[in-house]
Amino acid sequence: MLSPQHAWCKTPRFARILVLVLTVALTSALDAASVTRSVTSFNEDWRFARYGEMNYGSFLEEPAGLEKAPVDDSNWRELRLPHDWAIEGPFRDDLPNAEGKLPYMGIGWYRKTFTVPESDAGKQVFVEFDGAMSHSKVYLNDQYVGEWPYGYSSFRFDLTPHLKVGKENVLAVRLENKIRMSRWYPGAGIYRKVSLVKTAPVHIAHWGTYVTTPEVSVNSATVRIETTVRNHNKSAHPVELRHEVYEAGLKRVKVAETTTGKGSIAPDSTEVATATLELSKPKRWDVESPNLYLVVTSVLQNGKLVDSYETTFGVRTIKFTAEDGFHLNGRRVQLKGVCLHHDLGPLGAAFHTRAMERQLEIMQEMGANAIRTSHNPPAPELLELCDRMGILVIDEAFDSWAKGKTENSYHTLFEEWHEKDLVALVRRDRNHPSVIMWSTGNEVFELHSDEGKRISQRLTEIVHREDPTRPVTVGSNKSKPIMGDWKDSVDVIGANYNQGVYPIFLEKNPGYAIYGSETSSTTSSRGEYYFPVKEPRNRAQKLRGGARNNQISSYDLWGPGWSITPDEQFALLEKYPNFAGEFVWTGFDYIGEPTPFLAWDQTLDLNFKNEAEAKRAQEANKRLNKGKASSRSSYFGIVDLCGFPKDRYYLYQAHWRPDYPMAHILPHWTWPERIDEITPVYVYTSGDEAELFLNGESLGRRSKKQYEYRLKWNDVKYQPGELKVVAYKGGKPWAEQTMKTAGAPSQLSLSADRSTIKADGDDLSFITVRIEDSEGTMIPQAGDLIQFEITGPGEIVGLGNGDPTNHESFQGDQHSAFNGLCLAIVRTIDGQAGKITIKTRAKGLGESTLSLNSQ
Ligand code: GAL
Repeated sequence: MLSPQHAWCKTPRFARILVLVLTVALTSALDAASVTRSVTSFNEDWRFARYGEMNYGSFLEEPAGLEKAPVDDSNWRELRLPHDWAIEGPFRDDLPNAEGKLPYMGIGWYRKTFTVPESDAGKQVFVEFDGAMSHSKVYLNDQYVGEWPYGYSSFRFDLTPHLKVGKENVLAVRLENKIRMSRWYPGAGIYRKVSLVKTAPVHIAHWGTYVTTPEVSVNSATVRIETTVRNHNKSAHPVELRHEVYEAGLKRVKVAETTTGKGSIAPDSTEVATATLELSKPKRWDVESPNLYLVVTSVLQNGKLVDSYETTFGVRTIKFTAEDGFHLNGRRVQLKGVCLHHDLGPLGAAFHTRAMERQLEIMQEMGANAIRTSHNPPAPELLELCDRMGILVIDEAFDSWAKGKTENSYHTLFEEWHEKDLVALVRRDRNHPSVIMWSTGNEVFELHSDEGKRISQRLTEIVHREDPTRPVTVGSNKSKPIMGDWKDSVDVIGANYNQGVYPIFLEKNPGYAIYGSETSSTTSSRGEYYFPVKEPRNRAQKLRGGARNNQISSYDLWGPGWSITPDEQFALLEKYPNFAGEFVWTGFDYIGEPTPFLAWDQTLDLNFKNEAEAKRAQEANKRLNKGKASSRSSYFGIVDLCGFPKDRYYLYQAHWRPDYPMAHILPHWTWPERIDEITPVYVYTSGDEAELFLNGESLGRRSKKQYEYRLKWNDVKYQPGELKVVAYKGGKPWAEQTMKTAGAPSQLSLSADRSTIKADGDDLSFITVRIEDSEGTMIPQAGDLIQFEITGPGEIVGLGNGDPTNHESFQGDQHSAFNGLCLAIVRTIDGQAGKITIKTRAKGLGESTLSLNSQ
């Protein structure tokens, strides 16, 4: 027997683990030739058909027997994963605003024919899904192999028992989405990657390594590696494990290794073995220096390598304290976090690593250092990116428990699936140093009842069982009774909004660690400004004051009743440093939940004290919408759905990156109809003072007072020309920005976020189209229709403009701009290198081209 977990030293038959500490760094090539595990992409060559409720609302009966192998799928659509069938549209007026007005409901069938060579006889073959939306049922060659209903969970099935080696096999996947399964746009289809994994019969189990660092100091770190080994054979097998630890990086540098003695695994069983080793002078993982290590675990059978498995990990310490927030590697780190939904704008839910990386880069540039994966397990690549980029993560599991928020939300699965889903999340993600906390829920309805407390305790127990090294949290939006006694069911309290409760909470609950799990919820539309600018004095004004024509003014003063401005939240966190920081709702706009322009019939909003208050809000909202509610994506983002920053971006940057010299002026300065009219000017700067000039004349110098984060010139009378701000810090010039009045629209200007991309069929380039005058100043209200043409080895996979009311398709070859900007997302074609050219055209604006290099 391999030794059971934690008990190896008591097991005489299992030889003591030899700990070899190599302090001298060695470079080593892995013994790759004899590794039998293979992981290959299974994203290519799927066939797809849709049944039940169709895109345009018609109904197509699902034929019986589609799981059977001899189905004629020759006229099914051929596609490559990831695929989101709903992002193809169309936006439909009859579909709920909250879910993005896109047809994600219905049934989707995917079929893939593949051959496994004779040489794979005797291997175990698994299919791994990172996520399939939703209620997946998987069949191989007519046989049911398994199902996983929660669309955000990763899962795998063993195909071996039904696999025909040397012959053709058919894998069939049935998905089904019901309307109102979530409060936002869930996406639809096999929207994350799929892999085929082949191993020897004796191999490291699924998510079978768990690496922790129980002791960390400047001089050394203890690394504990728990390995789960599976023997599928009918006979017992002797097994030896070897762990080699490398500094991860372009060049792997070996820093330690250890070998277990021989153990034996019984037939058809699983054993866990634990090894520890020491790292000398560990390079710690931190937000500023995200150093990573890699353990290569080899399984040896009679000296022969039968499996090799890589686990990335980091050496770092984390601690939440009641008095002084969050500590990383022994020092306080303020959580400057954002909540992110899973969609990637015009790409929908279809996961593209580069699109996620771009979101994270934009957030990091703003100064964010943390993400909350609201409100569900993310794609695994998000964690890999955060590990590499030094971003802290709250990994969240659920938006509801046993009580539903919408008709078909997670409550329909909770009883049967919560443990499996939670275990899948924790086992998949527990080696990532970026993950600092597990969240078992968000604003779950039952939290403040005895039942809720019981469920919360149970979920925390499951998580602690799977990973005792990280705290568990829940995000709660209820202020009374002061966070309730559920607070004992978690390790760290997540407070959604309820800023009024902060001081009371701290006074009444010494000893509890807390952070703002959701903050602000300010709403705005990029580039929209309405006059006069009146700062709201009550909840109704806050909701309605900034809204017009289904858009919201970008003076950053408005939001739903429970919201506060970013500035108010900054002040609170400065006053109460016990709070570990905040997670702003949200970093990016997302599809669905266009509060306040929701159709309020489908979800009783969560942030009201009682039903009467919610009803009043619904009425106010109906008046606001005047019966029309056509918005399909949110206004909460600091950045719009396409990744174009709104003004608020610079308010956060000014506060979160105090050492980065910057100044930002709002609004834009092209108002031909406002000559001599009062047009307030706000400046967001990381400086502490600023002077504003209009056409060279000073409009005064203002300085920030305590708990003030924006500078305001409320009485500026508009004159065309040049508006300039000069910011100062400590009395010295610090940053400048100039805003010019635009002339006549004249040209389209194209720029790419990356002009050399990989010819791997996954890589993306994000191309911004700006409508400008002849001098290069953006026309701030331009909405021209732009035609796109692409030649060379690339395809346009997404178009958008960041307007939450826009119902044009995210796909195709034309899209209108919104307030001067439009976005095209270009994807390469696997194996086809070359020059990709994008040509754009718009009436009166001529033609512009841009080239990319795919290699
Ligand atoms: C919260 C909720 C979020 C989102 C937000 C909008 O109550 O947790 O998912 O709905 O409100 O302000």
